[in-house]
Amino acid sequence: MKRLIILLTICAVIITACHKKTVPIVSARTEFPEPPKPTQPAINTNTPESMAAGKTIFETKCNRCHDLQDPVAYTTERWTSILKSMIPKARLTEEQAQQVTTYVMANAKK
Ligand code: HEC
Repeated sequence: MKRLIILLTICAVIITACHKKTVPIVSARTEFPEPPKPTQPAINTNTPESMAAGKTIFETKCNRCHDLQDPVAYTTERWTSILKSMIPKARLTEEQAQQVTTYVMANAKK
């Protein structure tokens, strides 16, 4: 009888010991807000250098397939849709696209 009690005690100790090791259940899980996504550094195209670069891109990349249209030939609204189809054609980088857009828009028909 005494041995049984000792045995039970040992078992109880082992069970409690193991039980304590289990991961505590977090009942109220706090939702962490999404970590802010690293935003791409905005390309500042509002500089004279960018404007000049935009002009160069316009004059070198945009006349491969057709004669160049002067930016003043179209309104900014027209240019918005034209550039949307022409920038992919000209295979410009993100930065070049920004620069050429800045240049064209600054010189578009008002
Ligand atoms: C791969 C050839 C190609 C490249 C590069 C290209 N274009 Fe074009 N572009 C075309 C074609 C083809 C048309 C006529 C058909 C059309 O509108 O899609 C056209 C038409 C135009 C028009 C006349 C649109 C109209 O509605 O009258 C303008 C303006 C223009 N492109 C500007 C540009 C500018 C600015 C760039 C540089 C960012 C550029 N293109 C680069 C092929 C190209």
